[in-house]
Amino acid sequence: MNKNIPAGATAGILILLAGLAASSRGGAAASARGGAAASVRGGAAAQALIKTGDEALGTRKYSDFQTPQFCGTSCHGDIYQQWRQAMMSQAYTHHWDEIEYFKLAVPHGEKDKAFKAVADGCNGCHTPLAFMAGDVPPPRPEKNSRANESVSCDFCHTVTGFAGDTPFNFNFISEPGKTKYGPRQGKNSPEHNLAKSEFLGTAEFCGACHNEKSPFGVWVKSTHLEWKDGPYAKEGVRCHDCHMTYADGFSAAMGNRYPDVRQHLFHGAHDPGKVQGTVELRVHPDIREAEPGDKVKFTIALFNQKTGHKFPSGSVEDRIVWMHVQAVDAKGRVYHLPVDKKGFAGEEYTIGSDELAYQDMGIALAEADFKGVQRDGIPVGDRIFRMPYFDPQGRMTIQQWNTKSLGVDYRFGPRETKLETCTFTLPQDIALGKLKVTAVLYFQKLVKPVADFLGVPAEEAEIIRVNEHATVIEVVD
Ligand code: HEC
Ligand code: HEC
Ligand code: HEC
Ligand code: HEC
Repeated sequence: MNKNIPAGATAGILILLAGLAASSRGGAAASARGGAAASVRGGAAAQALIKTGDEALGTRKYSDFQTPQFCGTSCHGDIYQQWRQAMMSQAYTHHWDEIEYFKLAVPHGEKDKAFKAVADGCNGCHTPLAFMAGDVPPPRPEKNSRANESVSCDFCHTVTGFAGDTPFNFNFISEPGKTKYGPRQGKNSPEHNLAKSEFLGTAEFCGACHNEKSPFGVWVKSTHLEWKDGPYAKEGVRCHDCHMTYADGFSAAMGNRYPDVRQHLFHGAHDPGKVQGTVELRVHPDIREAEPGDKVKFTIALFNQKTGHKFPSGSVEDRIVWMHVQAVDAKGRVYHLPVDKKGFAGEEYTIGSDELAYQDMGIALAEADFKGVQRDGIPVGDRIFRMPYFDPQGRMTIQQWNTKSLGVDYRFGPRETKLETCTFTLPQDIALGKLKVTAVLYFQKLVKPVADFLGVPAEEAEIIRVNEHATVIEVVD
């Protein structure tokens, strides 16, 4: 059934690490000369075989890494508390991740061996220590094992590069040890040696987990690639500038004061404040006065002023962003204005509908003729800004690992403005006087019918109001 999974779609690559960066081809020569490489990378691990991606499974021990509690309670208190509030520290324990992993991905890998490695690979990004320790599937979060550390301090601060040309599918190079990499050379702490790393400050570091290819060779997560193609990369504005911002202060209890301490905020879709205001809306009519029976066209300009990548990005298979437009007449009667169709290929996936989708959840649930659940769970006729993912049978899926193709990409690019129209024929019985038309943009992390079906906590399907704008016309006779 899955003979069509191309071999080599995963990123596992065996690297001969010769004391230098994946990007530096001079490495082998430098260490052959016996020079302690000037670069931060490699060092003691010169000539070691370091495996990355799928190949890194079981190549390390948990005890190779310090715990976040150790880093956080002895010296880096503020950074630790910031990290604990970020999704980074919950990438394994977060309940929706637990549901998707244990209810869908693991059973899928058991029923269809072609997906076993893919299900193991979830941990490569969500709990890299567990993956490298070969502890897959890891104990459930309630067991409180070290897998719960998720993406931890000592994991990130001992990454030295990535394998190949493009960062994706956890192809980071992990070199745990006494040397911790960071943004400053500075003085060594009693606990560890500090080495300055250019790599941690690059978007490629983030890309090793924020780009993902499915076993069918499809880019199912491409936040770093979207960024790289967009205006922010050209201007040198990196992930860090929006998600790890700089502030005056201390980075360690006994350390120096710096004007630009990296804040470990990692705030994204799970921070309503980060999402609010991402897109600005402005709505205007084509005429300011109209009679019952007239047609009025409202145009809405939607400008993505805030994201460095597309919106939504990351877990695009789960996310839904939609625009609801309504008119209220002088007597308070409410009319829903469906969006005008533009006529592009695949547009049906960008307009709210009540059809069923996500039938491939039936594989893991062992319900062969599972009918699916509602695709959108929003008002029919509203415009949706999304990119649909399709399973090998061509049905919409939220299982990114079971994605064989992608549909139309109707998301907001960074700094892109989209224009939408709603044409409204004023009913004969509409009240005379002011008619107020409001366009609102909403965001949901997970389509509600899927959240309800899988028993995902309600906050994952919380409706966040991104922005809104209104205009007024006069109804006359
Ligand atoms: C080891 C893999 C890994 C690396 C490296 C990594 N991330 Fe993440 N990141 C994750 C995972 C997994 C999540 C999702 C957590 C969840 O929702 O379960 C995440 C979540 C996030 C979120 C929160 C998204 C949301 O939905 O709220 C932001 C923002 C983020 N990462 C930014 C970054 C930045 C910036 C970098 C680089 C400095 C980076 N990440 C490096 C794995 C990684
Ligand atoms: C110019 C500022 C900016 C830059 C640069 C930027 N982001 Fe974001 N990012 C945002 C904003 C604003 C949001 C919240 C809206 C949203 O959820 O997409 C966000 C959301 C996210 C999310 C959650 C996306 C979702 O919809 O679930 C992730 C993950 C993320 N960013 C990672 C990154 C990574 C990795 C990079 C670098 C490759 C990066 N960001 C660069 C501003 C930025
Ligand atoms: C997802 C990866 C990631 C995680 C998890 C992470 N960091 Fe960082 N950290 C970074 C990056 C990236 C930088 C900045 C690198 C740069 O700007 O060149 C940084 C910078 C730092 C700095 C230097 C701050 C400064 O400005 O001097 C310290 C100290 C630090 N981290 C400690 C920690 C501790 C402690 C934890 C756990 C509580 C932690 N980090 C978790 C990626 C991470
Ligand atoms: C290449 C790295 C990578 C792999 C492999 C990966 N993920 Fe993720 N996952 C992420 C990142 C990064 C995010 C956060 C994206 C965002 O916030 O939009 C994420 C988000 C999620 C979310 C949504 C969390 C939320 O808070 O909305 C779920 C659920 C999830 N992953 C489950 C899985 C499962 C199950 C697998 C294996 C089949 C898997 N992931 C494989 C990196 C990865």
